[in-house]
Amino acid sequence: MRLSGAAAALGLLCTATASLHPRRSYETRDYFALHLDAAASPVDIAQRLGGRHEGQIGELDGHHTFSLPKESGADLDALLEDLQTKRKLRRRHTGDNAGVLDNEEESLAGILWSQKLAPKKRLEKRVPPSEQFTRVVTRDKKENVEAVQARSELVSTLGIADPIFEAQWHLFNTLEVGHDMNVSGVWLEGITGKGATAAIVDDGLDMYSNDLSPNYFPEGSYDFNDHTPEPRPRLRDDRHGTRCAGEVAAARNDVCGVGVAYDSRVSGIRILSGAIDDTDEASAINYAYQKNDIYSCSWGPPDDGATMEAPGILIKRAMVNGVQKGRGGKGSIFVFAAGNGASSGDNCNFDGYTNSIYSITVGAIDREGKHASYSESCSAQLVVAYSSGGTDAIHTTDVGTDKCYSLHGGTSAAGPLVVGAMALVLSVRPELTWRDAQYLMVETAVPIYEDDGSWQNTKSGQKFSHDWGFGKVDIYSLVQKAKTWELVKPQAWYHSPWLRVQHKIPQGDKGLAAMFQVSKKMVKDANIARLEHVTVTMNVNHTRRGDLSVELRSPEGVVSHLSTARKNDDTEAGYVDWTFMTVAHWGESGVGTWTVVVKDTEVNDNVGEFLDWRLNLWGEAANASKQKLHPLPDEHDDDHNIEDAIVVTTTVQPAPTATQPPDQPSHTVDRPVNTKPASTDSKPSGSSTPTPSPASDSFLPSFFPTFGASKHTQIWIYAAIGSIIVFCVGLGIYFQIQRRRRLRNDRDDYDFEMIEDEDEAKAMNGSSTRRRGGELYNAFAGESEEEPLFSDEDDDDEPYRDQAASPNPRRSGSADLDDTQRDRT
Ligand SMILES: *[C@@H]1O[C@H](CO)[C@@H](O)[C@H](O)[C@H]1NC(C)=O
Ligand SMILES: *[C@@H]1O[C@H](CO)[C@@H](O)[C@H](O)[C@H]1NC(C)=O
Ligand SMILES: *[C@@H]1O[C@H](CO)[C@@H](O)[C@H](O)[C@H]1NC(C)=O
Repeated sequence: MRLSGAAAALGLLCTATASLHPRRSYETRDYFALHLDAAASPVDIAQRLGGRHEGQIGELDGHHTFSLPKESGADLDALLEDLQTKRKLRRRHTGDNAGVLDNEEESLAGILWSQKLAPKKRLEKRVPPSEQFTRVVTRDKKENVEAVQARSELVSTLGIADPIFEAQWHLFNTLEVGHDMNVSGVWLEGITGKGATAAIVDDGLDMYSNDLSPNYFPEGSYDFNDHTPEPRPRLRDDRHGTRCAGEVAAARNDVCGVGVAYDSRVSGIRILSGAIDDTDEASAINYAYQKNDIYSCSWGPPDDGATMEAPGILIKRAMVNGVQKGRGGKGSIFVFAAGNGASSGDNCNFDGYTNSIYSITVGAIDREGKHASYSESCSAQLVVAYSSGGTDAIHTTDVGTDKCYSLHGGTSAAGPLVVGAMALVLSVRPELTWRDAQYLMVETAVPIYEDDGSWQNTKSGQKFSHDWGFGKVDIYSLVQKAKTWELVKPQAWYHSPWLRVQHKIPQGDKGLAAMFQVSKKMVKDANIARLEHVTVTMNVNHTRRGDLSVELRSPEGVVSHLSTARKNDDTEAGYVDWTFMTVAHWGESGVGTWTVVVKDTEVNDNVGEFLDWRLNLWGEAANASKQKLHPLPDEHDDDHNIEDAIVVTTTVQPAPTATQPPDQPSHTVDRPVNTKPASTDSKPSGSSTPTPSPASDSFLPSFFPTFGASKHTQIWIYAAIGSIIVFCVGLGIYFQIQRRRRLRNDRDDYDFEMIEDEDEAKAMNGSSTRRRGGELYNAFAGESEEEPLFSDEDDDDEPYRDQAASPNPRRSGSADLDDTQRDRT
């Protein structure tokens, strides 16, 4: 590229500041990510391809981006595809990549792997679904006098002058005493996060907020949407990241509240404000990974109960690269929000980020400790933390010099509280590895609603529930345990061979069970002392994916519901090399018979076949000195011929499922953790009954309210209550939207009294009792009447689409949710 004079100087300047992650011009060029072998030089490759070397992909050694003008891009694409196909065929025949190269391949020698890049906007912020703020708030509870007294002492001892601190119930709850993060004792010991750094990977971070500027860490920050060093919010809905950052590291000063780790540093990595390609996403999660300790990720694929999506291979590699090389080899700590799709029947095992063994997956509970109606369950969920739901939400910092926000929520808000907890831990024990972090979570989480029928005893010594993980994070216990925690040995693993089933899946109550025996020798040879994560990769073909469910039973009798049936998932496919994850087998030996049971509970024309699977055990090494690091994931990891797979024992297990009475023992009872016909929040307010489970596992007694009815009837009752509420809510929202369109600026006469007005809350120092109307829809659509952030940029975002709401209650609810996630103003 030729530039002259001042333009050249300017160009140089720009390259200097953004050289590592140049802005792409997808309109005129095609981009390719290539993995090169160690001997290949990127410059050389660029020349041979007739393209431009754009640089290394983040921190991934040997991975580079190249670009070509669009005219020649298609040819290269075809060439590279061809190369991959040839290699695949050859691998199938000879079992490796070697062999005779033809001329075409000669010119592409040195290229191990390639991917044509495309900018995608597919990740969504995990903001709360709309339903949750629609109940009329009745504050009949009285503050606990002793708790109020204790808080006053805390405030004066620590010199907290933050105006909304008293509204930050998640830090110190004086109403529902005990329902907070239990952090104050740690602060009093002087542990406030000094020296630890959390990166908020999100839509931006307002480093000019007086609440965040004292702790903002520019060296760990970058904007991958606009390719500038400063991840400043630029679109009018760029507020989510700032709110998450406030939960972690809002300073102890005179603005808003405080973060869990109010003396920790906080970086912003902006990726959610536009489409990004896989190289940028991979770079983002490794960005400054020697300086950023924790990556806070409150986003993921859509939580619509129909999506099943895992990150691409580059991102998977970056995650493993992060845990292996980040933080001086101790490993980056990734924290992911579990997802908000519970009311759409979603489950966090259908999301390849939340079900990664490398992430701490966090679900949400409300200020009474109840399971938040939106929070997804799954066997990969490690812990839960507080967030919106019931009568309140999280109070935190907002975009603006001294703006606060009182309606932050969703699993989006639960994750950052755990990020803050980890920042406190690392400020005391910086040498803990990413796995020590997970162990500490497992060992110190506190079970809640232990009698709800969802808990089972595990070999870790802790109880596990698909709804609550190992329980809620208690920062005091967490940090105390961390102080003297002995570091675990490195990670070891065992990958079973592919196990062939090739058997029709029976419909209805029966399940197709496939067994695999793990011997003592296998575990010993794999150098595994005790299990942590277990993953199962499987292939099932089916004409309706949502009908399927899968459970895994360990030799110790612990049951993981790897997958649950999803009413919204009409996809005409089964599972293709999909990997499910569970943490329920933490602490087991792994030795004995593992059983996978695949079920198709819907009796209909949609049928399928369980093809094959493999079991992967991950755990702590027995002998540290001989343990190597796991290779980075490879796109061929799951390549296999089903004909070569080992045939395993299968049985069709007769057992009732949905009609099973809760406490009648059975081995194939499906407990659809995520298909609750109605959620806690749908019940009359004030009810303290735990989350109902429509069907419970045979190993566990269940005590959810039955209304003295049969299971079918109960489901019907719950569903009916749920539908009525959803319908009313939908109608309410619909009319409210209509009204808002008409009365854009006149909202004082709105007759609901519900959602706290922020300015009012500030004025009242957060002692929130009065609520004012007019903010209801804002909770979902954003706060459009606040001054637009940088209004000239608004058009970059998708248009405001509240007209998508329809009077149909179901549809309207989900349409609102979609709008909320795309465009919260
Ligand atoms: C919270 O922390 C205190 C110490 O500050 C500790 O005594 C207590 O057991 C912890 N848990 C709860 C639920 O209060
Ligand atoms: C499932 O796999 C079998 C072969 O194993 C094939 O005959 C059948 O057509 C497949 N069904 C679907 C729905 O893909
Ligand atoms: C651990 O592995 C190392 C290296 O392979 C070996 O020399 C050592 O004897 C092993 N230790 C034990 C206790 O087996």
